[in-house]
Amino acid sequence: MKAIVYRTYGSPDVLEFTTLAEPTPKPDEVLIRVVASSINQGDWHLLHGEPLLVRPSAGLWRPKHPILGADVAGVVVAVGRAVTRFEPGDAVFGDLSASGRGGFAEYVAAPEDALALKPAAVPFADAAATPTAGVTALQGLRTHGRLAPGQQVLVNGASGGVGTFAVQIAATLGATVTAVCSTRNVAQARRLGADTVIDYTQEDFTQGGQRYDLIFDTVGNRSVAEYRQVLAPQGRFVTTTFLPALALRGPWLARRGGPSMQNMMAKPDRDDLAFLAGLLEERRLTPVIDRCYPLDETADALRYVGAGHARGKVIVVPEGADGSAPTAAHAIAEPGDRP
Ligand SMILES: NC(=O)c1ccc[n+]([C@@H]2O[C@H](COP(=O)([O-])OP(=O)(O)OC[C@H]3O[C@@H](n4cnc5c(N)ncnc54)[C@H](OP(=O)(O)O)[C@@H]3O)[C@@H](O)[C@H]2O)c1
Repeated sequence: MKAIVYRTYGSPDVLEFTTLAEPTPKPDEVLIRVVASSINQGDWHLLHGEPLLVRPSAGLWRPKHPILGADVAGVVVAVGRAVTRFEPGDAVFGDLSASGRGGFAEYVAAPEDALALKPAAVPFADAAATPTAGVTALQGLRTHGRLAPGQQVLVNGASGGVGTFAVQIAATLGATVTAVCSTRNVAQARRLGADTVIDYTQEDFTQGGQRYDLIFDTVGNRSVAEYRQVLAPQGRFVTTTFLPALALRGPWLARRGGPSMQNMMAKPDRDDLAFLAGLLEERRLTPVIDRCYPLDETADALRYVGAGHARGKVIVVPEGADGSAPTAAHAIAEPGDRP
């Protein structure tokens, strides 16, 4: 199979487009023919091996897993003997960050627990765009942010991968949404469901009179004190970035009965993924796709995302991937049968 491989940490220049043997699924895994994958900032960090705290799990001196790409959508072509939820021909999607990634390839083996069925009406590219960014937004708003209908939420970074999901999900959860983005993305934020849009090139959201029940932050560009001054007295602040000041100060603020402020780490979750699949199917959630790259141009796709101004998600598609039924050669059930 064709795959994008890295053997050493570095810039996108270290990526090679090469041919490898197809993976063999373990008993609890399925083999997926990848129809689309999407890029996350996490791929950029693992490519560079930075920050250094990723290295204990990613490989101290060189990458443990040679193929990046956590988010995939595709068609099951073989199943391990312990797999109960899927069979060849099923269209699935999921986040493989807990099992070594591998999505920037024509085939990937994935634990069945990481996957959900892709609703037939949802395009593969939309499904591939959703797992990491969508689940992060959902957990940030609902689990950590405890967002309730009628509350005021501000989404900082409303035009990025996570932010475009957050604006839509917050609106779906019944909140009144203020989105912060740059001028070129203002109209898009309104279309996604924001009630108010703040163009950060014109206005500083930390200086306004509005107080928010929840600030969901994906940028981390302000100080804890600045975020706090626009939080309601019992409000919550959740950031997907890491603010070192919060690691100590967050629990201290909570003990004093003030607002809750926390760094969050999303966890792949099958139920959250299935919830998002429902929203996608009902068209209450539509991923924003900025660009689509062929697999052999994954390095360019990563450069684009790494620059930090993608508008929604960036998709990678293997050549000839079209989402049709698996070929006869792949319609086999036992991992030992794989070439
Ligand atoms: N903790 C977790 O579990 C978790 C999970 C997923 C992601 N993350 C992290 O969350 C962050 C966001 O991820 P992402 O996938 O959304 O990134 P992304 O797609 O690269 O988002 C970049 C967006 O940030 C916007 N932006 C840049 N400067 C801004 C500013 N000053 N104010 C408001 N918006 C600004 C850009 O919009 P403009 O072009 O309009 O400036 C762009 O659309 C990253 O740090 C990522 O590593 C964490």
